[in-house]
Amino acid sequence: MLAKTYPYYLANRARSPNAALDVRDKHSGRVATRVALADAKAIERAIAAAADAAAPMRKLPPYARQAVLEHCVARFRERHDELALALCIEAGKPIRDAEGEVTRLIDTFKVAAEEAVRIDGEVMNLEISARAAGYRGFVQRVPIGPCSFITPFNFPLNLVAHKVAPAIAAGCPFVLKPSEKTPVGALIIGEILAETDLPKGAFSILPCRIEDAGPFVSDERLKLLSFTGGQVGWELKAKAGRKKVVLELGGNAAAIVDADQRASLDRVVERLIFGAYYQSGQSCIKVQRIFAHESLYAELRKRFVAATKRLKVGDPKRRDTFLGPLIDEASAKRLEEWIGEARKAGAKLLCGGRRESNRLEASVLENVPREARLNALEAFGPVVTLAPFADFDEALARVNDSDYGLQAGVFTHDLAHAMRAWDELETGGVVVNDVPSFRVDNMPYGGVKRSGLGREGVRYAMEDMTERRLMVLREG
Ligand code: SIN
Repeated sequence: MLAKTYPYYLANRARSPNAALDVRDKHSGRVATRVALADAKAIERAIAAAADAAAPMRKLPPYARQAVLEHCVARFRERHDELALALCIEAGKPIRDAEGEVTRLIDTFKVAAEEAVRIDGEVMNLEISARAAGYRGFVQRVPIGPCSFITPFNFPLNLVAHKVAPAIAAGCPFVLKPSEKTPVGALIIGEILAETDLPKGAFSILPCRIEDAGPFVSDERLKLLSFTGGQVGWELKAKAGRKKVVLELGGNAAAIVDADQRASLDRVVERLIFGAYYQSGQSCIKVQRIFAHESLYAELRKRFVAATKRLKVGDPKRRDTFLGPLIDEASAKRLEEWIGEARKAGAKLLCGGRRESNRLEASVLENVPREARLNALEAFGPVVTLAPFADFDEALARVNDSDYGLQAGVFTHDLAHAMRAWDELETGGVVVNDVPSFRVDNMPYGGVKRSGLGREGVRYAMEDMTERRLMVLREG
């Protein structure tokens, strides 16, 4: 079970003011716990403390940063079941997905612990012309300074980890605003960080109301804003002033099933089902659009719809549940409306479509017009559109016919097609022979177009969290 209440963390210390936020069990709808709610004053104190902690964090030797991260890894392992249950309750995440996320949290911190002692510099020969004779350059990477993190509801642990762990590895203090829908995971990470001897002010984790959150974006003492969430990220960027901005903003990820996949269809369908419906479709890289070659389209459609109908729906705490609730009723209603709109515009509903409270049946549609919101926007739920294509060029063009570009999946045995997809798809990543939903935590992850700016994946986040500082040395 969850604790009755959770404190927030201000300058490394647990605090429990009177104001609190209810966190509901997304399956039962009942209040599961309460978390301390930070006000504008607490946010100001956290930012000031982070600014003060910039120098001590910079001076913390890499082995000491590594020790902090290793402590977290050990404690996450000890608290594995509690962390998974917290996700299951606060996010309504099916328990097997929740356990997978705890495993990834551990991976992310493990990779960060390794990277903490690998921040290397460069020696440069500057003698590129006679005027530079006798000069040499040396480059070291220094922490950028206090960072601001805003994280979404769908991965309450691992998307927090992708900001917090690289910050510690790079030597940056941070203030974090977790999603007010799922703040518990971040607060348990805070509890574990509070066991370490990070310099005072190194971290603050503050659930707060949106109307108080402005300084996370606009305060000039914060040198980097890393935001994961919806399209509002672009508005935040416009308000971020001189700070560096990293945005991970989702998409309408596509999977191509090439003509040569007939013999592999069972495996392809199994992976597409996973990619379409894992954590009830609430992932930025869930399979939303499937393009299958016309020679196998009918067979793929039959198997995919049959497998969709077999999905076990229910209580996320049961080990056999595949599809749980959505985060709230508004999300389920939005998708219900998008399905209705697509059908009115000529789409055919092949299965699903019904909603009850915050649950939506796994739904498959075909003939969805390209402009329908179900195709054109990010669905972020258990809905998939199917369409046939005649040749591979057309499939690539249809994947690219999107305002987004995070990841794409291409099932093909044809090496030339795999290389073409890698060269021509306008996405941050191309996954060959698997779904776009594949992610391990050391790979560069991020999008192009409306999907965002910059890359996460520990080492890549650390590049953003450090700056190159040059020293030029002239001989004698
Ligand atoms: C996301 O939804 O942005 C993250 C997906 C993942 O980490 O697997």
